[in-house]
Amino acid sequence: MKQYDIIGGEKLTGEVDISGTKNAAVAVIAAALLVDGVCYIDNIPEVGDVTTIMEILSDLGVVITRVAPNSYSFDCRAIKPDSVARAELYGKCRASYYVLGALLGRFGKVTVATPGGCDFGYGTSGRPIDQHIKGFEALGAEVEHSGGWIRATNNGSRLQGSRIYMDVVSVGATINTILAAVLSEGTTIIENAALEPHVVDLANFLNKMGAAVRGAGSSTIRVYGVDRLIGGDYSILPDQIEAGTYLCMAAATGGRITVRNVVPRHLYCITSKLSDMGVRIEENGDCVTSSLTRKRLKSTNVKTAPYPGFPTDMQPQITTLLCTAEGTSKVTEAVWDNRFQYLEQLQNMGAIVSQSGRDAVVEGSMNLTGAPIIATDLRAGAAMVIAGLAAEGVTRISDVWKIERGYEDLVEKLRRLGANITIHNDIEIVDMASDIIGADKRAESAA
Ligand code: EPZ
Repeated sequence: MKQYDIIGGEKLTGEVDISGTKNAAVAVIAAALLVDGVCYIDNIPEVGDVTTIMEILSDLGVVITRVAPNSYSFDCRAIKPDSVARAELYGKCRASYYVLGALLGRFGKVTVATPGGCDFGYGTSGRPIDQHIKGFEALGAEVEHSGGWIRATNNGSRLQGSRIYMDVVSVGATINTILAAVLSEGTTIIENAALEPHVVDLANFLNKMGAAVRGAGSSTIRVYGVDRLIGGDYSILPDQIEAGTYLCMAAATGGRITVRNVVPRHLYCITSKLSDMGVRIEENGDCVTSSLTRKRLKSTNVKTAPYPGFPTDMQPQITTLLCTAEGTSKVTEAVWDNRFQYLEQLQNMGAIVSQSGRDAVVEGSMNLTGAPIIATDLRAGAAMVIAGLAAEGVTRISDVWKIERGYEDLVEKLRRLGANITIHNDIEIVDMASDIIGADKRAESAA
């Protein structure tokens, strides 16, 4: 199993190019299923979840070609209405549920397996999808979710535009309802929609392909049904969360870095919190530079919220950074039931942090110590990298495949910024050991 070894204490310096947004890419790639033509999508982050979505599309009959690094063409003309992808692929990531909305919208019926993704306190029942189902049913579909499969059907007919009020602000349900509505008859109005930049990115992609999605980025989205989407090209938005993660990494080491290829406006919800803590933030076009204004960061309180609030996907990273700050901080997780599974890992490194319901209380200290720890999920794993960079001594992080589901070239990017991070691969060591044993045996029989 792959692991990361980090020797902490190196200040990060230099510039890092931010990749396309994983959470936009997985939606846009699934949206290609609606296109009766070929689309070229650029700035696709080559990360685990994106690979999974592409495998699902391939199973469904989409011809995918890598035309250049991070750039792919998707030819969706040959998909059959009854295509079903392997069940295990759906279970590998959350965003597989976008195939549901896209194929239901295109063919009026679909069968997919239950999606997977990080577990934030919902146990075996999985994260809820009731709002997705509400959206599909409002458009006329019948939905059945049982035995690990989700079947939605309008008997192969086009869905009918409708008005839907989302009971909770949900990125996934907003995107899935848009996907289902794009080729429907009439107009769909989604109220209490999610405002996240990746919802806007998805709408921009669809509009470029010929859809009529209006109001994305506001809480009311109107989808005017069209007959067909044609091909075209599109470039995925830069990743707000990846950029925020690097800014936290730099701050944890007392370094100065520039994140390039970002939309600074999308980072305000993160950079304003970093400023409160004593990080100087400078914007220059599509670059943001961070450095420290003081020797030790200051404590602060953080509460996650849907965009433009502080993103839940930055909660583990900011909590970890607060472990290195002076004073007591409170972090409230208001989006997911339990996204604090990683606190135990921080405690193993000497952090003084405790959980009470949806709150974590962090007693700041500068004394994180390297230890063997686990990436409990994608963003928590990135947070463990932050902890390792700030800690004294060696930190070995296992289960890093979870980190690589969403961060492109993390190790290489960090090395270029001066981090002392290496990949440790148990399998290679076993292979190396068997090579040595093999060589010894060959030497023995030769003797
Ligand atoms: C997306 O998940 C992201 N994933 C998550 O990022 C992110 O944490 C989340 O949005 C919130 O920003 C992708 O985009 C692939 P939601 P999603 O539906 O769409 C409740 C990462 O690390 N809810 O916005 O699944 C739900 O329980 C991942 O990259 C319902 O009650 O999240 C939660 O409390 C992790 N019913 C809240 O809404 C529903 O039908 C927000 O969830 C759907 C959601």
